Amino acid sequence: MTDEIVLWGERLVAAGEVRISPWDRGFLFADSVYEVIPVYDAKAFLLEAHLARLERSLAGVAIARPWSRERGGELLRALVRANGLRDGLLYLQITRGEVRPRDHRLPEPAPAPTVFAATSPHPPPEREEAARGITAALVPDERWGRCDLKTTALLANVLAREEARRRGAAEALLVRDGVLTEGSSSNIFLVRAGRVFTPADGPHVLPGVTRDFVVARLEEADIAVERRTLPLSWIAGSEELWISSSGRGLVRVADLDGRAFPEPPGGGLFARAWDLFEAGRRAEIARSP
Ligand code: PDD
Repeated sequence: MTDEIVLWGERLVAAGEVRISPWDRGFLFADSVYEVIPVYDAKAFLLEAHLARLERSLAGVAIARPWSRERGGELLRALVRANGLRDGLLYLQITRGEVRPRDHRLPEPAPAPTVFAATSPHPPPEREEAARGITAALVPDERWGRCDLKTTALLANVLAREEARRRGAAEALLVRDGVLTEGSSSNIFLVRAGRVFTPADGPHVLPGVTRDFVVARLEEADIAVERRTLPLSWIAGSEELWISSSGRGLVRVADLDGRAFPEPPGGGLFARAWDLFEAGRRAEIARSP
């Protein structure tokens, strides 16, 4: 897309104008954080929650905020408008900035952060496809110890996803010390004895914006969600397995390494959760600026 507009610093420019220095610490050290924000009906979905998590990630790696939440929201909304995007994804990355020569030590004074954002078209969630479900594979969780921060140090995620692909699966579900943590780019829900579970927040789980939204909608409908450690051994006795993310919404896992999770009669708790998510999503978009 040659006429694509991107956010570069605080300016909207043609994508071709952007030049990122090889000395940028985002390039050299993956010294950078990011967000992926869905756009529906030309509106950024749960933008406040994404910007709040961005601030948490920035604080977690000691990169200064480049702007206030209000200003960030304005800039991202302007980017969506500039590209005439209706349904898609907003990608935002902030690196610590450019410093030379290469040096592990954090620079003092801190350089100006590099800010880049772009949009891409992406279809909104679709009920039938979500209910049909995906195939997933269990893969060892070999990521670093601060997976609760949304940093671009994603090589372990990328390789886990590739391992899943090699085994014919669309997502890798990560296992650390006999415990299910999350997907390579998604969070996990398990339904067991009619109850919904998701891993407790902690250093090996990204606090997913989609997941929190699904949990809130379920709780509003008096469906309790328990956040706790999910031992791998629980999979055998579970009826349903779902994943959630900004890109996929809420999706059933239909097969995990050959263990089938057939769609329950009437759609099971997944159907309730998806309908609540969808109604919530539409209401949220209707009231978003
Ligand atoms: N990934 N866990 C991981 C490791 C993720 O990378 C993601 C999202 C999630 C779900 O978070 P959210 O609901 O806030 O999107 C959980 C994005 C979409 C990505 O890297 O493309």
